[in-house]
Amino acid sequence: MAGTDSSASSRQSSFNSLAKDLELPLEKGCLTIVVLGASGDLAKKKTFPALYHLFEQGFLQSGEVHIVGYARTNLSDDGLRGRIRAYLKGASEEHVSEFLQLIKYVSGSYDSGEGFEKLNKEISDYEMSNNSGSSRRLFYLALPPSVYPSVCKMIRTYCMSPTSRAGWTRVIVEKPFGRGLDSAEELSSQLGELFEEDQLYRIDHYLGKELVQNLLVLRFANRLFLPLWNRDNVDNIQIVFREDFGTDGRGGYFDQYGIIRGIIQNHLLQVFCLVAMEKPVSLKPEHIRDEKVKVLQSVNPIKDEEVVLGQYQGYKEDPTVPDDSNTPTFASIVLRVHNERWEGVPFILKAGKALNSRKAEIRVQFKDVPGDIFKCKKQGRNEFVIRLQPSEAMYMKLTVKKPGLEMATEQSELDLSYGMRYQDVKIPEAYERLILDTIRGDQQHFVRRDELKAAWQIFTPLLHDIDAGKLKAVSYKPGSRGPKEADELSEKVGYMQT
Ligand code: NDP
Ligand code: BG6
Repeated sequence: MAGTDSSASSRQSSFNSLAKDLELPLEKGCLTIVVLGASGDLAKKKTFPALYHLFEQGFLQSGEVHIVGYARTNLSDDGLRGRIRAYLKGASEEHVSEFLQLIKYVSGSYDSGEGFEKLNKEISDYEMSNNSGSSRRLFYLALPPSVYPSVCKMIRTYCMSPTSRAGWTRVIVEKPFGRGLDSAEELSSQLGELFEEDQLYRIDHYLGKELVQNLLVLRFANRLFLPLWNRDNVDNIQIVFREDFGTDGRGGYFDQYGIIRGIIQNHLLQVFCLVAMEKPVSLKPEHIRDEKVKVLQSVNPIKDEEVVLGQYQGYKEDPTVPDDSNTPTFASIVLRVHNERWEGVPFILKAGKALNSRKAEIRVQFKDVPGDIFKCKKQGRNEFVIRLQPSEAMYMKLTVKKPGLEMATEQSELDLSYGMRYQDVKIPEAYERLILDTIRGDQQHFVRRDELKAAWQIFTPLLHDIDAGKLKAVSYKPGSRGPKEADELSEKVGYMQT
């Protein structure tokens, strides 16, 4: 059995020892995971597959874990299981069948007590039948944000872990957390009245990616980088997200948010924090998040001349997108940090849909070498590249002597490609790690309320200007690099193609 065989339990024990090192509580006993919005896109594509993989690796044990899908759609337990099975192709049939048996479905609305009373009964009956005496309840809101307040109110009223049992209640909320500073603050206040901050897990799945998790280790456990990571040595930093597909029939939904709210304000800004923040006092979640807030608060207001917006040709052909939409599907925005480490260094945050490739990467470009003596060829710059996806890698571009009799230089790389170096390691999906963190009660990789506020403070004035039509998106060809103005902006602020 997947949840109880020896390899799964040995992986469980290595997890336990890691958890012990990090001083995390090791809890046993009854755990219920409720996926609200179980009929939806995120639930089937990401949430349930992540739960399956945790089960397959022994982190969710049969006899201890109970999974409940909740939504308005009328479905049977088997109906939901069939939908989930369709997204587990290639997995062991035996493990999948065992996993699916852990899943139940409850149908109900998001704003009336009836459905949540039914949900609570389902959870309580399971807890009573399980003799552990504990009640750990994790609610995953795979739902449109418009229903978060009512759903949280229902959970608070009907479904909390009973105080008579050992355990907890935790809630994972998906992005977008609001559309701007005011709506995000309003949402935070509404949820804050119902749950303590340590019960709320604002998920940003980029924080679960392997190479994003590696950033603190790279920066603070390598002597090499410590003296280099500052304005004296770094010329510019790019944080780039590209997708080679458009809005794929979901243009109407996308149009309410756009690429800045959808990718830059959250995913790229989280990466920016980890690249730019100061060293935290320790790895405790609060210490790390304190540093992230500080660097966000040091970002200067964005200047209009340091923004390029784009919209791909054909975007408005989607009938759910308004004909006069000015929503950007591409944006390149320069952030400037007003502090001792980064004054004068541009951080170029760039994201686009329907481009020529799918890629997410960080490029730290160093300054030219002063007093260059190798005049034979244009000097290349050192660049440290961290590729988050696809094919995780990090490499340093260096100038070396061209092998041979001549004294000539060329650009080469020190290359750490994960596929080559870690051939036997399966890199976990971001959602797997983050759900596991929530079960462990580790909030390091989740967005704190003040961090969210500081993030919206940076982008809200720009977003208001775009919504008011003061800044226009220029059109670009699908399958291209995006607007040429974006490359011109990168060059203008100092980026040099190496
Ligand atoms: P869906 O549009 O698929 O909605 C999820 C479920 O919510 C639906 O199955 C439906 O269930 C219910 N629902 C839909 N619209 C409404 C509504 N107006 N009022 C009440 N209930 C509604 O969303 P996703 O699964 O795509 O996304 C869920 C959340 O995750 C969103 O906040 C999204 O921004 C975020 N997200 C999604 C990603 C993805 O890849 N899809 C990636 C990252 C974040 P029913 O009608 O059965 O109740
Ligand atoms: C989501 C965005 O948060 O991230 C999507 O809403 C985007 O528009 C997705 O496609 C990208 O995630 P990843 O992990 O594939 O880079």
